Amino acid sequence: MYHAFIVSLVLVAINGLPENDQVPRRKDARVAIIGAGMAGLSTAARLLEDGYTDFDIFEAQDKVGGRVMPVKYNDGYLQMGAQFINGERNPIYDIANKLEVIKELFPDTGHFDGASFYHGECPVSKNDIELFKEFVNPLDPKYRALAHQNDERTYNETLKSLYDRDYAEFLKKNHIETGFRRNVFDALTRVYSDYWEFEWASKWEDQSLRNLIDWDDLGEIGVSYATDKFGWKAILDYIHHKIPSRHIHLNHRVGKIDYSGSRTKIWLSNGTLIPKEYDFVVVTSALGHLKLYARQMFNPPLPRKKLEQIDKIGMGGSMKIFFEWEKPFWSTPDFVPLPVAGCLGRTEIDPIESELTTFQEIDWAPNILVAWIAGHGPPLMDNLDDAELSARVTRLIRDMYRNQSIPEPKNIIRMRWTHNDLFMGSYSYVSLAQAQARIRHADLSIPVKKNGQVRVQFAGEATHYRLFEAAIGAFLSGRREGERILNSIATELSPVQNATICE
Ligand SMILES: Cc1cc2nc3c(=O)[nH]c(=O)nc-3n(C[C@H](O)[C@H](O)[C@H](O)COP(=O)(O)OP(=O)(O)OC[C@H]3O[C@@H](n4cnc5c(N)ncnc54)[C@H](O)[C@@H]3O)c2cc1C
Ligand SMILES: *[C@@H]1O[C@H](CO)[C@@H](O)[C@H](O)[C@H]1NC(C)=O
Ligand SMILES: *[C@@H]1O[C@H](CO)[C@@H](O)[C@H](O)[C@H]1NC(C)=O
Ligand SMILES: *[C@@H]1O[C@H](CO)[C@@H](O)[C@H](O)[C@H]1NC(C)=O
Ligand SMILES: *[C@@H]1O[C@H](CO)[C@@H](O)[C@H](O)[C@H]1NC(C)=O
Repeated sequence: MYHAFIVSLVLVAINGLPENDQVPRRKDARVAIIGAGMAGLSTAARLLEDGYTDFDIFEAQDKVGGRVMPVKYNDGYLQMGAQFINGERNPIYDIANKLEVIKELFPDTGHFDGASFYHGECPVSKNDIELFKEFVNPLDPKYRALAHQNDERTYNETLKSLYDRDYAEFLKKNHIETGFRRNVFDALTRVYSDYWEFEWASKWEDQSLRNLIDWDDLGEIGVSYATDKFGWKAILDYIHHKIPSRHIHLNHRVGKIDYSGSRTKIWLSNGTLIPKEYDFVVVTSALGHLKLYARQMFNPPLPRKKLEQIDKIGMGGSMKIFFEWEKPFWSTPDFVPLPVAGCLGRTEIDPIESELTTFQEIDWAPNILVAWIAGHGPPLMDNLDDAELSARVTRLIRDMYRNQSIPEPKNIIRMRWTHNDLFMGSYSYVSLAQAQARIRHADLSIPVKKNGQVRVQFAGEATHYRLFEAAIGAFLSGRREGERILNSIATELSPVQNATICE
């Protein structure tokens, strides 16, 4: 008999186990969840749905939510992180609908429809702005069509590589390759690049065309739902409150996950060993955190392939900076500063002003303007303290509005995502290196096994095959990993399993 067991175990080892057919675990298996963001909370909620309660959530921060980060302001919440809802064919839309926090359909068309350009004393002609609009408006559908028609090119082109060619042609055709007008079109190009950079939170020179293929919310392209002044705060509370608080361990930052033995040991970053051992570990840390720590966080080390996925999948930066004024000075709800090189004492446009391409009013917070920053911007902004940032923004606005008596903002409210090593950015995107290596976001969801058993699972926005970026993807990925655990412990014990246990 002993011999027969060996044979079957060897066969298993040689053939490998299909993804969803892991060696089953005992019903008293224990689960550790790293992180209490959308993914961690939804893993727990999924386990609870089946009456499964032996789990612990370890969260480094003193609060749940992660990149869903509402900050109280007056009678509402400023959302440092998730704010919109992508599409309606998902459970978050249903929750938001039930909670009545959906405000309106929001077209994601960038700043070129309806925005007001402010360029101070620079001689920018309305006709040139119109000419530029006509040039860029067809580009989004054009690039999407190109991506769908030419699979090969999606792996080596970026949004910028496509744009650069079209822009060169545009300049040539209109005889504006040099001179002041060229500077105007370069300024407009900076604004246009932010259309893509907000969308994918990344520098457009690293934005693979794959983003346009891989990402899919099953809804209309370029449309999402805006939420009201409670928005994601209400959604987060709703999900959080399903989970009894005894399961959630705040201020517990995990430093080491040791799955070398038959059960997994967890050390906090302050050196404390958690006195319990676990059968399943679901890691929901942001991709940026994994990029920094994946090589030291696991014992045995993660497989080479997993590390390559972590290294190459893109982690973008995007942020909102909320500027609060004593009272509004602006005359339009949405304005685009357009500083032009060779004008207003600017021989060239400094990198900070380059990134300040849009300011928007918030209907329920009339003294606030929110600036949306993406691409190269977030690390630059995060390096400025409030006083410097305030001075830069005030100078820009005064020049663009031609009014040197506009006061400085009285307060700045922001989250420096790139400075926090739990995140190191905002959310993932398909990078050029990732596309070239033919790595999909879904690859990151493949769990790490040892002796045929799933030992380390990954959830979080960056593991979702089509809704990466989004809090909805994070939520769905948590359910996916919860189900992986439930499927595994619900499976009837097979003879092979009995053999494993007898050993
Ligand atoms: C500026 C910005 C705007 C956004 N806008 C939108 C939007 O409009 N719509 C949308 O759907 N999405 C948006 N997102 C993205 C959305 O917020 C994220 O996709 C989602 O919240 C990610 O959830 P998660 O559970 O995957 O990760 P996280 O929210 O990062 O949760 C992971 C948790 O794990 C904790 N953690 C990490 N490492 C450890 C460790 N070692 N030990 C213990 N705890 C750890 C972290 O503290 C965190 O709480 C935005 C994000 C940002 C930053
Ligand atoms: C990508 O490859 C195509 C041929 O498949 C080529 O025409 C194109 O120039 C390449 N693009 C870049 C940015 O290298
Ligand atoms: C480490 O952190 C945990 C959780 O916050 C705490 O209970 C413990 O006392 C800390 N240990 C040390 C040595 O600081
Ligand atoms: C300049 O801004 C200040 C402050 O908002 C305002 O009171 C004043 O009317 C503005 N001046 C002009 C000329 O618009
Ligand atoms: C294997 O385990 C199951 C469940 O515990 C049990 O019903 C079955 O009899 C065992 N089979 C063998 C061959 O021991």
